[in-house]
Amino acid sequence: MQEKHSKIKVWDLPTRLFHLLLILCVLGVFISSLKENQLFYHVWFGELILVLLLFRLGWGWLGHFFSRFGNFLLPPKPVLSYVKVLIKGENPKSLGHNPLAGWVMIFLLVLLSMITVSGLIVLGGEEKIGFLATLITVPQGHFAKSIHVFLSKLLVVSIGIHLLGVLLNSLLHKENYVISMITGKKNATDHEASAFYPKKRVNQVVFIVMISVLMISIPYILPMNYYNPLTRDAHLSRQSEDDLHYQKICGDCHFEFHPSLLPKRSWTAMLDSLEDHFGEDASLNAKDKERIADYLLSNSAEKMLNESAYKIMISINETNSPQRVTEVDYWKSKHAMIKPEQFREKPIKSKLNCGACHPLGKYGSFEDADIAIPNNASIADALK
Ligand code: HEC
Ligand code: HEC
Repeated sequence: MQEKHSKIKVWDLPTRLFHLLLILCVLGVFISSLKENQLFYHVWFGELILVLLLFRLGWGWLGHFFSRFGNFLLPPKPVLSYVKVLIKGENPKSLGHNPLAGWVMIFLLVLLSMITVSGLIVLGGEEKIGFLATLITVPQGHFAKSIHVFLSKLLVVSIGIHLLGVLLNSLLHKENYVISMITGKKNATDHEASAFYPKKRVNQVVFIVMISVLMISIPYILPMNYYNPLTRDAHLSRQSEDDLHYQKICGDCHFEFHPSLLPKRSWTAMLDSLEDHFGEDASLNAKDKERIADYLLSNSAEKMLNESAYKIMISINETNSPQRVTEVDYWKSKHAMIKPEQFREKPIKSKLNCGACHPLGKYGSFEDADIAIPNNASIADALK
């Protein structure tokens, strides 16, 4: 057949935008996964990916000819015969996705969906954020994390294979397919160019506006808590009367140790000996004592299933009722890199001055994202 080439538009604008945004978001989740204090951005990019995937699902049905699943997902037989032809050394060209690439694309999309969903489970289970927070336990969150990490590694390999496929095809067909994904145009034979391709089913402008609104609204859809820079202040100002009462009474001589730092049995023992509280008399009147007891027991480490509370719980032997947070193994391991003399430096003064490095500690957050070491402390440089 006479191969006279002309360029025709194969990839429509929404598909190209989807592809470009997906690349940016995958880079975003990857970079933000390198540092723990980037969790918010990691979640943000992850949720954007979820929106993009939903869009692609819709566009695979409503979009232009070459973007519709029905037009490039072939049953096993034709895919196999395509592979056979490839093995023979021939090199058939497809205008849209070739029969193999179509399935590779679906594989990537399914893999990405599984990664984002498992990410939401980790977020709910381990970090107690989002609508899954009350449904998923911390151990379930841990398990989901191992799956999340495994699938993410698989994704990196799969993206590598996808890029290799594009490169090989580009070389074999002497056409730059990376540019095609940007311009949307591919070389076509006269026969292909003159064929009739049924048009899109919906107005692409409507679709793009819809997706933009969804994406812009993501940070507002995200859980409204202190992880979200947009809602952090509002969240913190929502302290209850009981929070304030506890902070006033038990924060009189030292940092307000949050109830989630010790198990119930530790608090009960401490309340029973307030007359001799580390050598001081911290006794309370009956009314205050009851209120404080209620507060400590209903927010203790077993109740506040956030990550640090969980890890504190599992690092304490069941027969022990430690009276010091700073004697719990988990605390010791997390602060092992800070030397005693570094704790004694001016801006910190004491290891019990938790608030110097954990400004949100009194609200119960010791998350990495919420750590702020004073600038002039020598440990600050080491942690940068
Ligand atoms: C009269 C002062 C005073 C009051 C009031 C007080 N404490 Fe203490 N607390 C101390 C002293 C002193 C220590 C020991 C500090 C040290 O080791 O440097 C201490 C230590 C602690 C520790 C151990 C910290 C660690 O990990 O080493 C906890 C937990 C604690 N207090 C909880 C409470 C709670 C809960 C209340 C309210 C019921 C309370 N404190 C009220 C004086 C007080
Ligand atoms: C000199 C600064 C400093 C002081 C003071 C300090 N911490 Fe920390 N804390 C850190 C750093 C840095 C980390 C993070 C360590 C890491 O990620 O490996 C940390 C981690 C933690 C964690 C683990 C958070 C997680 O990822 O789950 C907890 C819980 C914690 N601190 C509680 C406390 C408490 C309670 C006090 C006071 C008794 C305290 N810290 C005092 C610097 C400090």
